[in-house]
Amino acid sequence: MQIFRRVLMVGFAALTAVGGGCQDESSLVDGVFTEAEMTTVRTLGPLPPPAVDTTNRYGDDAKVAQLGQRLFFDPGYSGAIVTGSDGKNGGLGAKGETGKVSCRSCHLGDWMIDNRSQPNGTSLGIDWFFRNSPSLVNVTYYDEQFGWVGFNDDLWGKNLIPAEFVMGTDRSGIVHYLYKKYKAEYNALFSPPLPDALDPTHPEAARFPMSATPIGGTGPAGLAWKAMTAADQDSINRAYANFGKALAAYERLLVSRNAPFDRYVSGELSAISTSAKRGLKLFIGKAACNACHSEANFSDEKFHNTGVSQIGMYVLKAPDFDPGRFGGVDVYRDWDFKAQGAYSDDRSVKRDPIPAAGQVDVKLKGAFRTKGLRNVAMTAPYMHTGHMTTLKEVVEFYNQGGGTRDFAGGKDPLMKPLNLTATEIDDLVAFMQTLTGQPVPAALLQTPAGL
Ligand code: HEC
Ligand code: HEC
Repeated sequence: MQIFRRVLMVGFAALTAVGGGCQDESSLVDGVFTEAEMTTVRTLGPLPPPAVDTTNRYGDDAKVAQLGQRLFFDPGYSGAIVTGSDGKNGGLGAKGETGKVSCRSCHLGDWMIDNRSQPNGTSLGIDWFFRNSPSLVNVTYYDEQFGWVGFNDDLWGKNLIPAEFVMGTDRSGIVHYLYKKYKAEYNALFSPPLPDALDPTHPEAARFPMSATPIGGTGPAGLAWKAMTAADQDSINRAYANFGKALAAYERLLVSRNAPFDRYVSGELSAISTSAKRGLKLFIGKAACNACHSEANFSDEKFHNTGVSQIGMYVLKAPDFDPGRFGGVDVYRDWDFKAQGAYSDDRSVKRDPIPAAGQVDVKLKGAFRTKGLRNVAMTAPYMHTGHMTTLKEVVEFYNQGGGTRDFAGGKDPLMKPLNLTATEIDDLVAFMQTLTGQPVPAALLQTPAGL
């Protein structure tokens, strides 16, 4: 995140010139902020262009991004539906149907959120997933923790999770699909080309089973993977990594900047309301939201337990059903698609160390990644459970010092009652409403022709 700090030094020059040494109101910047507060405000905006992701050499390749958009909108590779539509749950088809779930099915509309699945937008794809889908607009501003619990430490690697976990297929299924439907595009963009033995009529087609993955354990897909040669496993992994990199190249275009807050930090004093300015002062002061929601993406990319209850259908399973980060780290510890893994394009990149199995800090039980707050007014419902529907409800939750029941682990010591007045609660909401940036270009939100 260092990149933000460097870029941020420039904003607000016009405003700081106004500030003096003493603290009477006339000497405050814009009549609201002390010099010290202003320094903090400048760490939050304006939002710079995304930093280069050196782990993905295709990250800023426009042609790769075009293929990525197709792959994002294409439901063709998803497997058989387990929980079908019952007319109320927002399900995507009847039980057993295939080819019904795309990435777009859960990252919908202009802000790429799930407002289809019911209840709470906890996402229903092939089957129920127990968390709400976060917006993908500005997802590229996270540097190293993706998903609510950090399922991977690079964006392209995170893109490889859905296929094997919520879309009813696996890496071999994806690579076969790439061969069947996108062979020419793939081979024009990536090298080496897809192996010809992926053709089912090829004499050596048996080298590449339709379903095979190392996460398949002792099931048929796991055994099929073990039977493959190391070279063929590498071919599948490499093409699968490129699938994630193409999706990431597309996601890197889903950027929304120049929010009213950014314009304010750049010196346009009328860009946000007086209430929002008071809210901003609370955000970095009395309410101390920036203890966690820091930097220009409003996330420290650390994991905190705020005590969000497992409300909804899952609370019935067990109040401490979701271990949060405590379990999230297991997902990518041993796999090849992390930033320091075999298929990364820059293994020298700095990342938080991944604790060994059995060594994960118990304080991470029930802890979730601090959510970035850019465009948050557009991306309800809130929290990993999706059970809060308004920003006011969220601020009231913090005002009480966070949740009190039905969550795993112990609450972060930063969570304490805030004693906010009703006006102060409204001011914080007004501030968060200034974080909505310019819309993502419409062409990026449209289903590509032919799908
Ligand atoms: C069944 C619905 C569903 C489908 C299908 C789906 N996602 Fe998601 N997506 C989610 C949910 C839920 C999360 C949060 C998961 C978590 O962190 O526990 C998420 C998280 C993400 C994130 C991380 C966002 C962040 O804030 O860090 C990315 C990136 C992403 N998805 C991309 C994709 C791509 C690419 C595909 C298609 C290959 C896809 N998703 C398919 C529901 C879905
Ligand atoms: C101790 C760290 C911490 C502090 C302090 C904190 N947050 Fe959060 N915030 C988080 C975490 C972690 C999440 C995700 C929690 C979850 O889903 O379980 C979150 C989620 C949110 C969300 C929901 C975003 C979404 O898209 O679902 C909003 C809004 C929010 N915080 C606003 C605030 C405001 C306003 C304050 C100050 C009053 C604040 N936060 C203080 C860590 C913190």
